[in-house]
Amino acid sequence: MAGPILVFDSGVGGLSVVSALRRRLPEAALGYCCDNAMLPYGTRADGWLVERIMAVCSAAVAEVEADTLVIACNTASTLALDELRARLDIPVVGTVPAIKPAAQLSRTGHLALLATSATVARPYTQRLINSYAPHCRVTRLAADALVRQAECWVRGEALDERALREALAPLAEDPEIDTVVLGCTHFPLLRDALVATAPGDYNWVDSGEAIARRTAQVARQPAPRSLPDQAMVTALDEGLTRGLSAYRFACPHLLDPTTD
Ligand code: DGL
Repeated sequence: MAGPILVFDSGVGGLSVVSALRRRLPEAALGYCCDNAMLPYGTRADGWLVERIMAVCSAAVAEVEADTLVIACNTASTLALDELRARLDIPVVGTVPAIKPAAQLSRTGHLALLATSATVARPYTQRLINSYAPHCRVTRLAADALVRQAECWVRGEALDERALREALAPLAEDPEIDTVVLGCTHFPLLRDALVATAPGDYNWVDSGEAIARRTAQVARQPAPRSLPDQAMVTALDEGLTRGLSAYRFACPHLLDPTTD
C-alpha cells in the first residue's frame, strides 16, 4: 500500500507548501510533521540541528510509512538535505530560496533575500547566488522575528505590526531592490501583511509552486487522500491544533523522536 507524502517543517511554515501541493496533487494523501518543540530552527547550531532533523524525520517517515518526504523548510534543507537523502530510502524533496526565478524576474538586478539568520549565512545560499544570480546584488535580511509572527497568525492571534515594519525597513535603504525572495516557508503565510507593510512595490517570490512541481515528478504513486490528513507534532499546543485543522489536518498526535 502506498503511503502519504509527508511534509516537514519546524513549525507552521510548511503549510504554505501544503497549499501548493494540494493544488497540484489534489488526490494525494498528505501527512504533516512539525518539530514545534524546538522552533525556531533558524537560530540553532548546525551540528545539533542536523541530528535533530534526522531524528524527527526518520521517526515521522516510519510512523506514517511515508513514500515521499518534502522538507518544507529552507533552514533544514540548506543544511541537511544530502544527509537525509543518504539515510532515507524514499525520495526527499528540499526547499531552497527562490534565487533563480527572482533573478529572472528582476529588472534592476537587485534582490532582497528575506530568510532566517541561518539561511542567509549558509554556504548553500551563497552557492545558489553564485550559480543563478551572479549578475545580481543580493541584500540578505535575517528576519527571524517573522517566524514567530507566522506562528501567531496561523493560531488566529494578532500580528505585531511593528515587528513586520522592522523586518522590512532595510528594503527602503536600497531603492534599486525590486524583488524580494521569501526564503523561509513561514513568510508566504504573511504575504498579504508583508505587501501592505513594505516600503515600496516589489515582486514577491517564494518556492511553493516549484516544490509542488518537483514533488509531482518524484513522488512514488501517492496514496489516495483519506479525509482528514494526519499531522504529528513534537509538543502539544491547542492553538497549533486549531491552525492545523484549518488546513484540514486532523487532531495531531505527539511524535517522540529518539535522539540517542
Ligand atoms: N520555516 C523554516 C524555513 O523555511 C524556518 C523557521 C524556523 O526558524 O524554525 O527556513
